[in-house]
Amino acid sequence: MMPIRDVVIFPHMMTPFVVGRESSVRALEEANATGKQIFLATQHDASIDEPRPDEIFSVGTVANIVQSLKQPDGNIKVLVEGVERGKVISVTDEDGFFRAVVKTSSFRIEGGPQLDALVSRVTTQFEQYVKLSQNLNYETMVAAIRPDDPGKLADTVGANLQLTIEEKQELLEIFDPIDRLTRVAEMLDIEIEKLQVDRTIQGRVKRQMERAQKEYYLNEKIKAIQKELGRGEKSEYDELKKKIETAGMPKDAFDKAMSELRRLENMPPMSAESTVSRNYLDWLLAVPWKKASKEIRDLNYAKDVLESDHYGLDKIKERILEFLAVRRLVEKPKGSMLCFVGPPGVGKTSLGMSIAKATGREFVRLSLGGVRDEAEIRGHRRTYIGALPGQIIQMMKKAGTKNPVVMLDEIDKMSMDFRGDPSAALLEVLDPAQNNAFQDHYLDVEYDLSNVLFIATANVLHTIPSPLQDRMEVIRLSGYTEIEKLEIAKRFLVPKQLEGNGLKLDQLEFEDEGLRALIHGYTREAGVRNLEREVGNVCRKVVRSVVMSMPLDEPEEEVKPKKTKGRKKAEVVDIVTKEATDVVSESKAEFKKVTVNEANLSDLIGPAKFRDAVWDKKNEIGSTTGLAWTEVGGSILTTEVSILEGRGKLTTTGKLGDVMQESAQAAMSYVRSRAHQLGLPRDFYRHIDIHVHVPEGAIPKDGPSAGITLATSISSALAKIPVKGDIAMTGEITLRGKVLAIGGLKEKLLAAHRYGITEAILPKENEKDLADIPDVVKKDMKLHFVEHMDEVLKLALEREPEAVPPPTMDYTTKPIEDLRH
Ligand SMILES: Nc1ncnc2c1ncn2[C@@H]1O[C@H](COP(=O)(O)OP(=O)(O)OP(=O)(O)O)[C@@H](O)[C@H]1O
Ligand SMILES: [Mg+2]
Repeated sequence: MMPIRDVVIFPHMMTPFVVGRESSVRALEEANATGKQIFLATQHDASIDEPRPDEIFSVGTVANIVQSLKQPDGNIKVLVEGVERGKVISVTDEDGFFRAVVKTSSFRIEGGPQLDALVSRVTTQFEQYVKLSQNLNYETMVAAIRPDDPGKLADTVGANLQLTIEEKQELLEIFDPIDRLTRVAEMLDIEIEKLQVDRTIQGRVKRQMERAQKEYYLNEKIKAIQKELGRGEKSEYDELKKKIETAGMPKDAFDKAMSELRRLENMPPMSAESTVSRNYLDWLLAVPWKKASKEIRDLNYAKDVLESDHYGLDKIKERILEFLAVRRLVEKPKGSMLCFVGPPGVGKTSLGMSIAKATGREFVRLSLGGVRDEAEIRGHRRTYIGALPGQIIQMMKKAGTKNPVVMLDEIDKMSMDFRGDPSAALLEVLDPAQNNAFQDHYLDVEYDLSNVLFIATANVLHTIPSPLQDRMEVIRLSGYTEIEKLEIAKRFLVPKQLEGNGLKLDQLEFEDEGLRALIHGYTREAGVRNLEREVGNVCRKVVRSVVMSMPLDEPEEEVKPKKTKGRKKAEVVDIVTKEATDVVSESKAEFKKVTVNEANLSDLIGPAKFRDAVWDKKNEIGSTTGLAWTEVGGSILTTEVSILEGRGKLTTTGKLGDVMQESAQAAMSYVRSRAHQLGLPRDFYRHIDIHVHVPEGAIPKDGPSAGITLATSISSALAKIPVKGDIAMTGEITLRGKVLAIGGLKEKLLAAHRYGITEAILPKENEKDLADIPDVVKKDMKLHFVEHMDEVLKLALEREPEAVPPPTMDYTTKPIEDLRH
């Protein structure tokens, strides 16, 4: 008997192994010397070198020694062939080796369908096992299988499975071939399952490895390509990354940018998708995240700046300074936004610029006129083709700092339609409680607007949605008097235009008288925009003669246009050159300083556009001058009334809104109640139609203030008493003739003053507003404050009506017979 380790030899198996142990060599020699048969049994514990008989399994295999070769190192290489299993009956320890008496047994097998099924099951299972297992050669294994001998089949399969020594020993110890085959079938099941699990795991591992390898390979390739293109190791992605890291973004924006960059890196560089992604990153990097202007907080400095940029406007400057002062003390004051309301050209925009200068901030202007889509404010989502951020974010990019002054110009001209209400988006922008997390649809990360100083401008207040108004501190600018305009022109507009047109002080000078003529004759406005334009006009005329008097210092050829230039341009240049040379060759007279006065103004810029501001309206029946308030400031408006044959209808034409129509009705009711005083029969209205007309021109924005004007015209027309031409009026009227307060008194009086009107009738209730009215106006005009319409008529009509009706009442061109009854 020879103990073997780590292996179980099955019958019918050819197995080679090396024998090294002394006792084993002895046993082998003994066997070789006797019958060339040896009993091979596995020892329990492979680590024991000299096992005792009870440390060896009692069941083993009787084998033939096919070959034994002594090797130079003393070991013997043997090849054995298992013959049959045997059980040890007794063991004797001979001279250095064990001799065992072994009992073998042979079984007779009963064939049958059950056995056949078992055999075929094992064969197919084993085939499958061989396929799955990578260690066995399919062809040799299939050839080795003997389906005709179940015992042999069980041994062949058992020997080739990847079993533990214990499992193999267990198989060896089953002498009954059918039992053994059954057990082998069970073991096969388990082994196949194991192999399958192995295989799926292996497959998974393999796939993962493949992907990682592929990515690595491709990345290396990209790097190599970029190197080849001369971009070196530092790709543009690295640069983007650096920019993102230094942009000072808040956490979520930073994360967003980084993940976008990662996405971008994995996109094909020229694809449409990567362009979108790049643009987005560029925008994220373009908005200022941390860069801020150093704010100037010195109120005295602010005061100086405001003072030096604008003339007058004392109250407004004071309010601006107060506003700035409050902002210094309170972090996020409510209504922390200024809104300048007033007619065009009074300096709203330029005040905003001054505030920026005074506080050391950048200035950007966003025109809201005509904006009617929420997306214009807030941007489009990135999924839209060509999407961009909204105006607010674009303005921030333009400003380049996170604390600029953003001027929301013409906030009253914003409208809304089906695409959403832009004012709703603006609400969020302007609300100090929300605007630290402003959401732009495109940017898709929160942006902090709380450091921005918003300033809005508007011509009128009433078209601004009230929630927006609520967030603003309204400052009204109502327009300038002539004296103020003169000062503004002298101090600001003339120097600005001189400089803008390249003129020097010794070339052009405006006399006060000339400027005054310019204001009177060429402009009629609340602000100074047209005045500035006219000053510019004068400057350009002078520039022309200055240029014409200059010697041509370049040779003529060079002045001539090249042939390649566009035809139109060439022609123009040609004419100018010709003219210039003509004049110069005619008279090289030296240029003399131009002094603008009333006399030479029309030579320079043509005749005056407006008659001199002397009000010369005649006294007329049915025609009254009213004072109106329009979008462009105060204005005057004439109401005309004529009486026609009819049946008591009140017709209104011209620019009368709904409110004005109602005023006309109210005026009519008053007049009817005063029929007796006006010398009219009680039912006078039954036989006439009254036609009220307000000629086009100024479009008044405050309806009811024309009430007393309408009533005066109607009374005058009915009583046939002319209205004084040099008197203007404004006031709302009730049915009983009470005169109620109106808005925009300052604008209205400034307009009346501009037109040269010297007398005005105003509601008593407005007397408190007198403090706002410039002194010149108060000095030049006679103001009557009244409470009742009766007083108005007394002041406005040429004479008092006779309380008794005159003998004939001919209201219309055609006499009406029964009017007397
Ligand atoms: N008080 C003033 N002192 C000096 N310059 C003034 C004054 N008021 C207005 N201006 C000048 O008049 C011009 C027109 O003013 P600005 O553009 O600010 O008007 P605006 O009120 O914004 O008009 P709009 O409603 O049409 O936008 C500017 O050049 C401005 O500097
Ligand atoms: Mg403006």
